[in-house]
Amino acid sequence: MEILQPKKGDYQLKDYDQTRDNFSWEGVKKVFSWSKTGRVNMAHEVIDRHVEEGRGDKAALLYSDANRDEMYTFAQLKEKTNQAAHMFKNINVQKGDRVFIFMPRTPELYISLLGAIKVGAVVGPLFEAFMKDAVKARLEDSEAKVLVTTPELLTRVPHKELPHLETIILVGPHNETGDKFVSYAEEMKAAATDDSAIQWVDLEDGLILHYTSGSTGKPKGVYHVHNAMLQHYQTGKWVLDLNEDDIYWCTADPGWVTGTSYGIFAPWLNGVTNVVRGGRFSPDDWYATLEKNKVTVWYSAPTAFRMLMATDPATVKKYDLSTVRHILSVGEPLNPEVVRWGYDVYKLRIHDTWWMTETGAMLICNYQSEPIKPGSMGKPIPGVEAAIINDKGEELPPYEMGHLAIKTGWPSMMRKIWKNEPKYNEYFAIKGWYVSGDTAYRDEDGYFWFQGRNDDVINTSGERVGPFEIESKLVEHPAVAEAGVIGKPDEIRGQIIKAFISLREGYEYSEDLKEEIQAFIKNELSAHAVPREIEYKEKLPKTRSGKIMRRVLKAWELNEPTGDLSTLED
Ligand code: PRX
Repeated sequence: MEILQPKKGDYQLKDYDQTRDNFSWEGVKKVFSWSKTGRVNMAHEVIDRHVEEGRGDKAALLYSDANRDEMYTFAQLKEKTNQAAHMFKNINVQKGDRVFIFMPRTPELYISLLGAIKVGAVVGPLFEAFMKDAVKARLEDSEAKVLVTTPELLTRVPHKELPHLETIILVGPHNETGDKFVSYAEEMKAAATDDSAIQWVDLEDGLILHYTSGSTGKPKGVYHVHNAMLQHYQTGKWVLDLNEDDIYWCTADPGWVTGTSYGIFAPWLNGVTNVVRGGRFSPDDWYATLEKNKVTVWYSAPTAFRMLMATDPATVKKYDLSTVRHILSVGEPLNPEVVRWGYDVYKLRIHDTWWMTETGAMLICNYQSEPIKPGSMGKPIPGVEAAIINDKGEELPPYEMGHLAIKTGWPSMMRKIWKNEPKYNEYFAIKGWYVSGDTAYRDEDGYFWFQGRNDDVINTSGERVGPFEIESKLVEHPAVAEAGVIGKPDEIRGQIIKAFISLREGYEYSEDLKEEIQAFIKNELSAHAVPREIEYKEKLPKTRSGKIMRRVLKAWELNEPTGDLSTLED
């Protein structure tokens, strides 16, 4: 068995077994000022607390993109987020109201998000690549009252069809008139900088809604509460290994859970300097970002590492990456080959971490102080019990494949699926367990090994895509009669989206039609939902109840046996 031993060093998690045996979440509460004051608000703990504790002049945010290069201290972020809080208060945002943020990655996104949390709102970040239908579905389901966006992105917000949306705050020059629209610049200028707008909340009050995909139905609003901070903070220590002087870069966008839990909350709860780079991925841009900011801890994803692995080896040699001391990955299986390549090129181990939107924070991880088995996701964090179970909830012995499940009750667990209790309950169908939907096994040393999803959810470039949403959109195209969507294995992206379609009478399949359908999905849903491959079939395999059998489509694609076809229509 290939094992990468830890480098000698003084790490936040010193002895895994000992910590696991003696740990309780109660102790973590003492870190936060609410343990003394009884008053809590995530935004206070991530920003204001550091000013109160004398870290006001420390760099909190190093932001850059192609046009901007800015530094904000904790004291400056405190002022700005206070202003944003007053801005929201002035437009009557109340505790529990949903404030959505549909923005490119800029300082204004981070300031708005924390300002909204300060007034007790439940924030909903939307990925900037979303198109009209994806935006509408999320604003509609959440009944968002306020949206912060830019004039450019506003064209994708069908606000006339959203009766609950009272106010749209526009970041950047605009010509919109009407009382629905307010200008971010003007409102911020008019807003006070004191902290009297802060709304103290309870640990179980709502913090954030992240929409994510399942295999059926519309995107689900995963609802997290302030209490998640316990786990954000503690995994920031144990897993990210954050120390006072670290400069940390998480490459994820806040539209996805990694970009909030580990792009905002974990680093700032730990008071470290946080790097945000706007714009798109390119190997040179990323290496330059690491070099220029003297990044020490870098959290990214397998697709990005695979793309870096595929670039000319001369590229990385142009940069001085000697400050980087810790690398981590999340979102999809991290191939052993990538770990080996990383060890060779960066002289560091890449630490895989496993968790989900629903879990709110890391659960199964590799640690600086522990051996790594390339291909394994690692071991559960202390304070969390993970297991491989069968359908009856019985724990399986080492090396047997089953459901990857977590004993219920960890601090950052989602508290509901927005307005959808039956969906929430589905996760807890086996008593006492949260069932992840992933299949895995555990080895005799307690390391977990990912084997696959046991539903049809697609993971393309680390983004979770529900086939149902794409199928529904495909059949809205006038030429498409039926559609079935699957994930097809891909070297770089993990999976790509492949659609099988049948056509309505009067249409004939052609390359032009294919491109037209791809453009349709891109314009209506989002670029990351576009099927890279489309295959025409006269008929799709369906059950007698009319459900398209994705399992059969997958078997066709992989030239595998189709298995039990007893429910097939004909
Ligand atoms: O299938 C697992 C995969 O991503 C799913 C969760 O996706 P999402 O909610 O978008 O969250 C991604 C980032 C937290 C999981 O059910 N996944 C996540 N991490 C890993 C992984 N698959 C293999 N290895 C991982 N480390």
